[in-house]
Amino acid sequence: MSEVDDAKLDEMIEAAREAMENSYAPYSRFRVGAAVLSEDGRIRPGVNIENASYPMSVCAERNAVAGMIVAGQHVVRAVAVTTDADEPTPPCGGCRQVLWEFGDDDTVVVAEAAGGRRERWRLGDLLPDAFGPEDLE
Ligand code: THU
Repeated sequence: MSEVDDAKLDEMIEAAREAMENSYAPYSRFRVGAAVLSEDGRIRPGVNIENASYPMSVCAERNAVAGMIVAGQHVVRAVAVTTDADEPTPPCGGCRQVLWEFGDDDTVVVAEAAGGRRERWRLGDLLPDAFGPEDLE
């Protein structure tokens, strides 16, 4: 899979930040925006959606993946995450597992904090020795 260039990552961050405006987070007040880049080159956004029954809340990354699946795409090439936090926040453990289902070691994960500071990881570093589809073969 070809490298994801910086201009594409910029575009993804922008999509995540725009989506973040629609985050539904009345309980935590922690707004998260996400965007996934699929194999067809399209960027699909997601936001966290909380619920009065707290455990029913769903993270932004997983909602972005849902949009990708609805569109018939099954490969995540890169993920962008935006918040209003002081530091860039990587995906939670549950989201790392969901991303792994459609990504690989080299899937790019980039996060941007409120002030614009960014951090970048490989999914394989965020979730080493992952359990995945091939473990069920
Ligand atoms: N959240 C995400 O959307 N993505 C993550 O990777 C971490 C946490 C959301 C869930 C909840 O709505 C809020 O942030 C606080 O945990």
